[in-house]
Amino acid sequence: MSSILSTRGLTRTYGDGESLVRAVDGVDLDVAAGETVAVMGPSGCGKSTLLHLVGGLDRASGGEIHLAGRRVDQLTERALARLRRTDVGFVFQAFHLMDELTVIENVELPALLAGRSPRAARARATELLRRVGLDAKGDALPTALSGGQRQRVAVARALSNEPVLVLADEPTGNLDSAATLDVLRLFEDLHEAGQTLVIVTHDERIAATADRLISMRDGAFVDETRLTGGTTGHLGALAGLEG
Ligand SMILES: Nc1ncnc2c1ncn2[C@@H]1O[C@H](COP(=O)(O)OP(=O)(O)OP(=O)(O)O)[C@@H](O)[C@H]1O
Ligand SMILES: [Mg+2]
Repeated sequence: MSSILSTRGLTRTYGDGESLVRAVDGVDLDVAAGETVAVMGPSGCGKSTLLHLVGGLDRASGGEIHLAGRRVDQLTERALARLRRTDVGFVFQAFHLMDELTVIENVELPALLAGRSPRAARARATELLRRVGLDAKGDALPTALSGGQRQRVAVARALSNEPVLVLADEPTGNLDSAATLDVLRLFEDLHEAGQTLVIVTHDERIAATADRLISMRDGAFVDETRLTGGTTGHLGALAGLEG
């Protein structure tokens, strides 16, 4: 199996001495191309920190990150900024759309920042809005959309530069049940289309769409369950998450 993403001994500490916090503590993660991995665990166990390290939003204190053949942990600030812009797509719980821009302007912005022509960026954004079922909303402002619609715009934006990896941090954390299902279906579509995805979630319905479910505690991986295509996992772990 060739991994598109791997980490070795990945560590992020905060503070020092008595107040040292090991937010991420020696994590070895391997994600195959086209795989969807869900990460679950209690508040404060290091899930967001892990995503931020992998996506170049934060710097590791130690260990290695290999993404599509590059050492993310060794990139210069400039190269890291480029990685965040073009190689990785982020979806956050709070959407992080720019409220003063229209929906289509939000979606085309990463392509423009990456140097695409306005015409190419607009064409790509139009296609992505169709893909997330919001082609009629391109000229709306994000504030005129529901939470679920906003998150679908955020997913479209994350796909703007055809990232090798999409990282989602509790993408349904601010959504009601119906909107959660919309976003869930969208992630399933992405998965079917071969997009590599790492999703941090508290929602077992989202986790159940993954190929693999990783449980985190105190900065480390403590359990792993293969949900599809294999018989090695302990599916009891999933049952335990329900109810
Ligand atoms: N900037 C920071 N400075 C100091 N400590 C931090 C910082 N960011 C995170 N931490 C600590 O690192 C640990 C992991 O935090 P993180 O946000 O990654 O957890 P999480 O699993 O995403 O939690 P949640 O489910 O609540 O989002 C926590 O103990 C947190 O307090
Ligand atoms: Mg978090």
